[in-house]
Amino acid sequence: IHTLLRPMPGRSGEGETVTEAASNRVVIFDTTLRDGEQSPGASMDLGQKLQIAKALEALGVDVIEAGFAAASPGDLEAIQGVSRHVSGPIICSLARCTQGDIDASWKALQDAPRRRIHVFLATSPIHRDFKLKLAKEEIVKRAVEGVRRARERFDDVEFSPEDAARTELEFLAEVVERAIEAGATTVNIPDTVGYALPQTYAETIRYLRAHVRGIERAVISVHCHNDLGLAVANSLAGVLEGARQVECTINGIGERAGNASLEEVVMAVRTRRDVLKVETGIRTDRLYPTSRLLSQVTGLAVQRNKAIVGQNAFAHEAGIHQHGMLTHRETYEIMRPEEVGFARSSLVLGKHSGRHALKERLAALGYGLDDKQLDLVFADFKTLADKKKDIYDADLEALVIHGQVLG
Ligand code: KIV
Ligand code: ZN
Repeated sequence: IHTLLRPMPGRSGEGETVTEAASNRVVIFDTTLRDGEQSPGASMDLGQKLQIAKALEALGVDVIEAGFAAASPGDLEAIQGVSRHVSGPIICSLARCTQGDIDASWKALQDAPRRRIHVFLATSPIHRDFKLKLAKEEIVKRAVEGVRRARERFDDVEFSPEDAARTELEFLAEVVERAIEAGATTVNIPDTVGYALPQTYAETIRYLRAHVRGIERAVISVHCHNDLGLAVANSLAGVLEGARQVECTINGIGERAGNASLEEVVMAVRTRRDVLKVETGIRTDRLYPTSRLLSQVTGLAVQRNKAIVGQNAFAHEAGIHQHGMLTHRETYEIMRPEEVGFARSSLVLGKHSGRHALKERLAALGYGLDDKQLDLVFADFKTLADKKKDIYDADLEALVIHGQVLG
């Protein structure tokens, strides 16, 4: 993996460059502190960013994009702080293709034991015509200059054609090829506005692998936004086509509807390795604690039914499901809650719960009831459940102690 993360085309020779398709290791590039922080309401101060960066290090991410050095003095300071206090992952700064941005990133990353610069330039027609007001030739020229300048200082250079998913395939291939020639070691393919579908995004990656000369010298990266709720699906479609870096954020925070959620990507890779045939270096039992930490630090709540880390992700309420779970947990659980750092799955008792689940819960609470007693408690339980959504242990104890059985 070290070679994968530090390919040096043009310097150490092609023998040392691991091709993305040859490896089954997917690099997890976390951008919670950069793209994630762009999420409305997610601003963090220096201390909070360091706390998150330490948690990401403990989680085992490969790359931390700690900020956009030229964006503000605060961002530069945060990248410096992370560079000084985090030693495992590569630390990265985002930069436009300008000398000023590259210099700011260099300054910010001075103390990082391993550093990367991530230069970007938009390539889609709408960005060319309305945002940049530049012709295609000028875009290619600036991208090449940006990567070359970055390579003067950094061995590890990532290039992103912003809005790649809405860029003409031929032109995208040309820009990517020229960026690799100029020394880019990772080429990232952003779906900046979350417009792609899994099929179209897969086609883009396939096209680039088939048409870009020298593509095997760079790691192909995917960076998907979630405007249509497809960020994770699109990222995985890219992985199936040979991408070997996924850019993502904790809890999927990010611009608008967010970025691909790290915990969902990682657990999909782990749970469906039969199909995806890749692996990550993430310590999955740190997923839930890291999600909680980010939520506490930013004040951004995680929706209850969020996959992997939502409060309901391992909760089973329907009677049939609860019965199934008690018989064999895999009837309704494809991952074990402990794998992601949840203590255990909780059988939330409510109006859909059945006798079997109630009996089990009461037994766990120390009430071994015979069938007749259980009938009585079950009747009271159903009456209560019609009035109260979730029934907690204290409610059950009250039913037994003050109800028809012992009361
Ligand atoms: O979504 C995007 O295009 C980005 C780039 C800067 C990589 O975040
Ligand atoms: Zn983005």
